[in-house]
Amino acid sequence: MQAPDANALQGRRILLGITGSIAAYKAAVLARLLVRAGAEVRVVMTPLAKQFITPLTMATLTKHPILVDFFDPENGAWNSHVALGEWADCYLVAPATANTLAKMVAGVADNLLLTTYLSARCPVIVAPAMDLDMYAHTATQHNLAALAARGVRIVEPTEGELASGLQGKGRMAEPEQIVASLGAFFTEKKKLTGRHYVVTAGATIEPLDPVRFLSNHSSGKMGYAIAEALARRGARVTLVSGRTALAVPAGVERVDVLTAEEMYRAASEAFERADGAVMCAAVADYTPAEVADRKMEKGEGELIVRLKRTRDIAAELGARKGSRLLVGFALETHDEEAHAESKLGRKHFDFIVLNSLRDAGACFRGDTNKVTLIDRAGREELPLLSKREVAERIADRIETLNA
Ligand code: CTP
Repeated sequence: MQAPDANALQGRRILLGITGSIAAYKAAVLARLLVRAGAEVRVVMTPLAKQFITPLTMATLTKHPILVDFFDPENGAWNSHVALGEWADCYLVAPATANTLAKMVAGVADNLLLTTYLSARCPVIVAPAMDLDMYAHTATQHNLAALAARGVRIVEPTEGELASGLQGKGRMAEPEQIVASLGAFFTEKKKLTGRHYVVTAGATIEPLDPVRFLSNHSSGKMGYAIAEALARRGARVTLVSGRTALAVPAGVERVDVLTAEEMYRAASEAFERADGAVMCAAVADYTPAEVADRKMEKGEGELIVRLKRTRDIAAELGARKGSRLLVGFALETHDEEAHAESKLGRKHFDFIVLNSLRDAGACFRGDTNKVTLIDRAGREELPLLSKREVAERIADRIETLNA
């Protein structure tokens, strides 16, 4: 972790989530340090947290009302967890109890702090606090690993005297240390400021008639994770997206397209002004030669559909890339490395990300991926990782190449 700069938290919008742990008393100091560092702080508390620290204390320190309930019982006004999640640059849950961590993993939404977690688009950081046995328990360790795999950052608890009187690991990190981790987080990830990348993602849709189309199983998750990782590092990102069910990541500009031809036009135009592109979309190689303008009626016997080739977007951008960076993907089922290397050369990629459908965990729609990064100098095989973590590794490479 590099040293945070003194202004790393200036103007940052931090949403502080407080859960019901004795360490909640430290949240007052934490909020004060964040405010002093120039951050704007809003607080959401679980009902139990109010037993440990009063909303009045937190409201006074942050100069904002504290949110606990889904709505204001006085006037019925709705406390929007979606708006809170969108407002924040970072959602810091400190202290995070074993109970809240487990609910975050499971997607339980029985209080405002948790619904906010589920709708937050910003990075999430948790500072666990609990007794040593609870912390060491396999269940808690699994939950922390699951959150980390999703991209949640963890400020490790420290060793020391616990409220139970026992000694061990479980004490929430000191507020100064949490603030330092937050500062480092904002400093560390901004190395792509001033850069602009195009990311293609998702499946294209090639209409046969007004009702039917040809497409594929791509969910878009990998491309969206890359767009998000690049944006988090300060880059401007144009995400040219085929059909997916995913939300636009924070700070990303999305251009929705349907067909390979539309994707070509949008990606090409954005590439003119960009520093590079990551070609993650599953683009149809063929499209119906004729699109019926009325619904095709069924008849007897077989139906033969004539298909024509689409443009290879990656190859066309590759041919005119100049010094811009181009990253490709190859999804293969056999002779994986030979095919990927051939695409690397043919499409002028700087590096290519190879997925093999033969690898367990590298399936369509899943949250994990197993990839090998290949460039002209060699190959790097990554272990099975979450798609978010794979995106971070790809962003690391882009950062090195664009340094
Ligand atoms: N690609 C693209 N436009 C296309 C087809 C592919 O931009 N019309 C990009 C993909 O986004 C990916 C890379 O090219 O980054 C490899 O795609 P793939 O379909 O695996 O390669 P093809 O060249 O189509 O090879 P194959 O002969 O295996 O179909």
